[in-house]
Amino acid sequence: MGEMRVERMQLLSLFPPAERGEGKVIFGSAEVMHELDDESIHLVVTSPPYFNAPFDYPDFFPSYDAYLQMMERVAKEIFRVLARGRVACVVCDDVLVKGVRYPIVADLTRLFMEVGFSYRDRITWLKPEGYIRISRRSGVLLQHPYPLYAYFDNVQESIIIFAKGKFDYKSVSPETREASRIDVERFLREKWYLNVWQITNVLPHPRRLEKGVAAFPEALAFRLITLFSHKGEVVLDPFLGSGTTLKVAAALGRRGVGYEINTNLLPIIKEKLRGLSLDIIIRSDAISIPLPSGGR
Ligand SMILES: C[S@@+](CC[C@H](N)C(=O)[O-])C[C@H]1O[C@@H](n2cnc3c(N)ncnc32)[C@H](O)[C@@H]1O
Repeated sequence: MGEMRVERMQLLSLFPPAERGEGKVIFGSAEVMHELDDESIHLVVTSPPYFNAPFDYPDFFPSYDAYLQMMERVAKEIFRVLARGRVACVVCDDVLVKGVRYPIVADLTRLFMEVGFSYRDRITWLKPEGYIRISRRSGVLLQHPYPLYAYFDNVQESIIIFAKGKFDYKSVSPETREASRIDVERFLREKWYLNVWQITNVLPHPRRLEKGVAAFPEALAFRLITLFSHKGEVVLDPFLGSGTTLKVAAALGRRGVGYEINTNLLPIIKEKLRGLSLDIIIRSDAISIPLPSGGR
């Protein structure tokens, strides 16, 4: 597929603006989700900040320990609000900050297990190679074609999936199950059954709505919400960003709740969720951080 065509497809959202459905957006830190009752959420789909990644908020966290402590508080809250047997899907990746590599995938896996989750699966999200040019880092080998000069360009992220105990399949009515039937033809055609998903990332473009937000693609949320929730259920994204999870949840007939700390994202969220009936709460712990120019 030509680059131009991929780019055009990327600019067209998978879904038109959500025309029905409802969503709740709470501006405040997901470290405390007191608006949500215990076991009231059926699925979590999220992508946390990647420590001080240059595309997120450089120097936002004072240390890696402070970052992990924040993530631990959020993981505890996710465990509390998630219903028994349900899953949390966390899109994340290791980061390289000022020459130091931080093992975020390994640390979040350990941390989610420590708060009570079992580790269910890990999917590699593979991005198209066409958009990566050999970097100065990996290109060092061209200058020095000898052993130990090898460094690698990243074309993947991880989707780590955690379960809160065993799911009781009988807890869902036959009608709801049937209304949530998965399109098996698509499942096979797009190879959803593999633990490597080839999905184009949200490409940098001056006119894109998510400018300054490390948004994940709608196709990724689409697969996770289809596979792990039923129609009418509630999907939570504790790190809402531009609102991708809520948009896809509404398009799939699910209700959505999102937490976002940065009030500067309000206009982007409103635009992305245009057509949705939105309940917006701005708590006193919300902050206003200028948006960086970045993207996955
Ligand atoms: C990687 S982005 C999420 C992007 C989102 N998946 C999308 O598609 O637009 C992470 C988001 O988490 C937000 N965030 C950081 N710390 C937070 C916290 N403690 N509580 C809630 N949101 C937070 C950031 O402001 C950022 O928008």
